Amino acid sequence: MKILVINGPNINMLGIREPAIYGKSTYGELVEMISDYCKEKNVQVDFFQSNHEGAMVDAIQQAYGSYDGIVMNPAAYTHTSVAIADALKAVGIPTVEVHISDVSKREAFRQISYVRDVCVATIAGKGFDGYLEAVDILIK
Ligand code: DQA
Repeated sequence: MKILVINGPNINMLGIREPAIYGKSTYGELVEMISDYCKEKNVQVDFFQSNHEGAMVDAIQQAYGSYDGIVMNPAAYTHTSVAIADALKAVGIPTVEVHISDVSKREAFRQISYVRDVCVATIAGKGFDGYLEAVDILIK
């Protein structure tokens, strides 16, 4: 099994960015944690992070035929991007939506997710562990 972990804008700023909301660990530590977990579970994993919506659409399109699942934190594009939702629909790769913070308890504009309906599950508010839970969901 091979999965792609896609992270959207500002996820590369973890550790610096609003630590009270996102914690003090870095993006590098997140990648390491997911990599170790996937190794344990015999899952091949690749990572993609971008601040650019179109680049994320490209990554989803390029995943077609190469990946069995996607773990995706579209970050702010969650709440705005029809293009990312359409790309996920187009490739039909089972995708789990992940948010580090509990978006349901935050601002009104974060209550909308354009990707939720095209994902097999949504995990929010579990910190970095949410990504590992997403891997487990894809394995099952
Ligand atoms: C986020 C939540 C989004 O609302 C926000 O724009 C992010 C991160 C999260 O992981 O909690 O950048 O997706």
